[in-house]
Amino acid sequence: MGKIVILTGAGISAESGLGTFRDEGGLWAQHRIEDVATPEGFARNPALVHRFYNARRVQAAGADANAAHRALARLQREWPDDVILVTQNVDSLHEAGGARDVIHMHGTLAGALCSTCQHRWVSEPEMTPADTCPACGQRSVRPDVVWFGEMPYFMDEIYDHLANAQIFAAIGTSGQVYPAAAFVHEATAADAETVELNLEPSEGVSYFDRKILGPATQTVPLWVDELLNRARRQN
Ligand code: OAD
Repeated sequence: MGKIVILTGAGISAESGLGTFRDEGGLWAQHRIEDVATPEGFARNPALVHRFYNARRVQAAGADANAAHRALARLQREWPDDVILVTQNVDSLHEAGGARDVIHMHGTLAGALCSTCQHRWVSEPEMTPADTCPACGQRSVRPDVVWFGEMPYFMDEIYDHLANAQIFAAIGTSGQVYPAAAFVHEATAADAETVELNLEPSEGVSYFDRKILGPATQTVPLWVDELLNRARRQN
């Protein structure tokens, strides 16, 4: 049946109560990207950046997976070929919904990273500039998230998957942040069928073969049913 590659963004977690970035009242209306999501902002004011991610960690820990996360996990279990989940989200709601091997291209709130020795570990719920790395002892502990100006994680692996995709879907992402926004072009070059599922048309909607508009908790389970019915018919 072929490999499915799915890219998700903040919109898939919106109905779990986690705010998106660019919708009205979203995180980027309340905080300046340069202050809280760049290496320069962290160097200037690490306490502020830790407070921002500590608050997001608390909020994410109180959120539950929704029907869209669960439907994608079901697709992973029941689709007769690989279903690769790539997320820009730093929450763990795909995993909470039962998904496995989720590729977190922008890192995770659950992770801490030492910028001196690159050691990674599970972060404390609260991080502070006084924290020390358990491996090298340096006070250079940061959230293991990707900031603007940094290279997202697992890019080679993701491009390999896109080059072999038969179906590519982008769910709940505004298509404004690269390189994720360009995945649709890689998938198109690989002759994949491309579909966008979003509340409203994204920046790059015209690049997709098909668009399905509506809240993810409604559209994603229906789309997954459609795919699994297709797989059954072809068996
Ligand atoms: P955005 O906030 O840019 O976009 C969220 C998208 O989800 C919008 O297009 C909304 O229309 C859509 N949406 C909102 N509610 C929805 C719902 N219930 N169902 C379906 N769609 C819904 O978030 P992302 O595209 O994920 O990066 O942002 C990409 C990256 O920009 C993030 O990973 C983050 C951010 O700055 C970094 O911090 C590096």
